[in-house]
Amino acid sequence: MYPQNTVIKLLTKDIFMLVLGLETSCDETSAAIVNDERHIYSNVVYSQIEQHRPYGGVVPEIAARSHLNAIDEVIKVAMMKSSIKFNELDGIAATGGPGLIGGLLVGIMTAKALSFVHNLPFVAVNHLEGHALTIRLTGDENGNNVPFPFLLLLLSGGHSQILIVRGVGKYQCLGTTMDDALGEVFDKSAKMMGLKYPGGPQIEKFAKYGDPNRFKLPRPLKGRKGCDFSFSGLKTKIRQTIENLPPGELTKNDINDLCASFQMATGDVLEDRCHNAIKTFLSEFPNGGYLVIAGGVASNLSIRERIMSVAKQYGLSFASPPPELCTDNAGMIAWAGIEKLRNGDLDSLNFNPKPRWPLDPKQQT
Ligand code: KG4
Ligand code: ZN
Repeated sequence: MYPQNTVIKLLTKDIFMLVLGLETSCDETSAAIVNDERHIYSNVVYSQIEQHRPYGGVVPEIAARSHLNAIDEVIKVAMMKSSIKFNELDGIAATGGPGLIGGLLVGIMTAKALSFVHNLPFVAVNHLEGHALTIRLTGDENGNNVPFPFLLLLLSGGHSQILIVRGVGKYQCLGTTMDDALGEVFDKSAKMMGLKYPGGPQIEKFAKYGDPNRFKLPRPLKGRKGCDFSFSGLKTKIRQTIENLPPGELTKNDINDLCASFQMATGDVLEDRCHNAIKTFLSEFPNGGYLVIAGGVASNLSIRERIMSVAKQYGLSFASPPPELCTDNAGMIAWAGIEKLRNGDLDSLNFNPKPRWPLDPKQQT
């Protein structure tokens, strides 16, 4: 399907590579141009948040239509900002799943059309792999490359997982959520407090002024074996705590204290789960490596600090992408596309988006 010289060039690993990435799996329409020397030429993110805010969460039909309306312009701006022309690109990468099917179709169809017209390799990227590999684009805080294998705490709006990342496409899930994802619980708890969507950044903001010990919240699964999570009980307790406060609107202090108590409880649980995961990781890789935190919730500075301190206790290095690359963006998709293309891992134009696409094939979701 692709010209022979394109495939030969891609399989020659030391060749310079420039990729356009597209991200449309949830409520951000994004296009980015990245090269294999970890340089981001442009990373344009058009957020639909204002359109979803009145509903307190993402409405799939609104998301799909909005992606369709925005995608061409977002790509145009990304190309202009980078000063790169289509004939200079080496590939087109787009999120192929998991995510909302309407948005995935918009991104994948656009990428296939561009690939066909410009005769460029097309690669479908797992959104979670985009989050997982971002740290290899940014490097650690000193810009050092983060090698495989590493331990990954992946916390987003739709997923909460701890994985061993052995290589591109090689993931072992040590633990996952048994109910809600952490980002979702941040969003729903914030909504109950009357805070705007998305709730994660709001909770982080108000938690700074609150008393983390005022409300007694559960720490689900803390002290138990394994690395799984359960967050729905925490969400229920937030609702009950609000119901037990005097009727009427919550006071500023109530909100601050609720946010601080919530953030403390989630931090305690994450720390506990990481202890178990690190022990498992070190039993196979006694020389250590990196503990990486990624996904939207990883932009929370308090959570980052707590995970960093656990990593230090075991002598592991800690790394996390900058907050703007933790939340959804096409830079991470372009980079994962580069990592896949470097391995000669292209997709055919018959690829169908996958609303469910686990990183570890042994997982159900
Ligand atoms: O990775 P992401 O951008 O999208 C998904 O793949 O789901 O994650 C979005 C989630 C939302 O639930 C949002 O509330 C949460 O990340 N989030 C945060 C923060 N910033 C975003 N959660 C806690 N603290 C933050 N600062
Ligand atoms: Zn995401």
